[in-house]
Amino acid sequence: MTQPRLFSGMQPSADSLHAGNYIGALLQWRDLQATHEAIFCVVDLHAITVAQDPKLLREQTRRTAAQYIAAGIDPTLSTLFVQSHVPAHTELAWILNTITGFGEASRMTQFKDKSAKQGSDFTSVGLFTYPILMAADILLYGTELVPVGDDQKQHVELTRDLAARFNSRFGDTFVIPKPFILAESARIYDLQNPSSKMSKSATTDAGIIWMLDEPSKTAKKIKSAVTDDDREVRFDRELKPGVSNLLTIMSAFTGTPMPELVASFEGKGYGDLKKTVADVVVAEFDPVRARTLELLDDPAELDRILATNADRAEALARPILEKVYDRIGL
Ligand code: ADP
Ligand code: NA
Repeated sequence: MTQPRLFSGMQPSADSLHAGNYIGALLQWRDLQATHEAIFCVVDLHAITVAQDPKLLREQTRRTAAQYIAAGIDPTLSTLFVQSHVPAHTELAWILNTITGFGEASRMTQFKDKSAKQGSDFTSVGLFTYPILMAADILLYGTELVPVGDDQKQHVELTRDLAARFNSRFGDTFVIPKPFILAESARIYDLQNPSSKMSKSATTDAGIIWMLDEPSKTAKKIKSAVTDDDREVRFDRELKPGVSNLLTIMSAFTGTPMPELVASFEGKGYGDLKKTVADVVVAEFDPVRARTLELLDDPAELDRILATNADRAEALARPILEKVYDRIGL
């Protein structure tokens, strides 16, 4: 019985992933791998679209892969690999470059945001063509579903357009993928600034729950989370973004539906809420952290896992790429 194929990835752009990555991506991936033929990539080639420190990138790539595994991505069930280990990604990206319109690429809003954030600093053409590499990542595997956040939806649309264009010009080759949009309920916000999403690239650290932080640090951050002036524990994203964010995190970790969770805090205050959330988060991340450190302590074993998985990815990608070369006359 074949399962629908699914592809997703994250950039190795920090030492640790955070609660947003965990709830919005890893937890969902972990569930999806049971019902899909899942391919999970650490997209290091995407990470070099902004300036990198080579030593740090290598380290963060390994740490990210270890965190995927520690969070429950099973590298014998799913294909879990590092993007640059499979050269087919860059090979297909070049070919897709040649069928992408300049205007079409220029309409990608994430490039505008990211290049604006770079300020007057250097902006690479790689950052501009990033969505085309992402299209290659997806199309190389005959992917049907791409779990992404809202901000990546436009890139999946581009991927669909490129696949359809290639198919109509050169003959049926690519599967047209569909975005699998993350539920709004899985979106986690910055503890200090609950109107912006928790992000690896946030400018301050205080609002981010890192998966690999010491438990005491995590508890302290949660206890210092911004709330509001009334004292009622209630879910209301508009009026009570801080409290709602804490409730969302807790609901994701415990599986308790929101109304039930809110009811359990009746007559209790924000101090109780924060303490309970801190305990839940620490209990969830403690084993993930321990497992990550264990994996990083045995580099040979992690290398072996990543090499085996890169071979599996290569074996899936190569026949599709060969077909592409053939179709376009190379
Ligand atoms: P970051 O903003 O931390 O760099 P990425 O953009 O690399 O995160 O996203 C990696 C994955 O994690 C994506 O699947 C994205 O949807 C998910 N993700 C990132 N931040 C959050 C968040 N705050 N809440 C929920 N999911 C998130
Ligand atoms: Na599976």
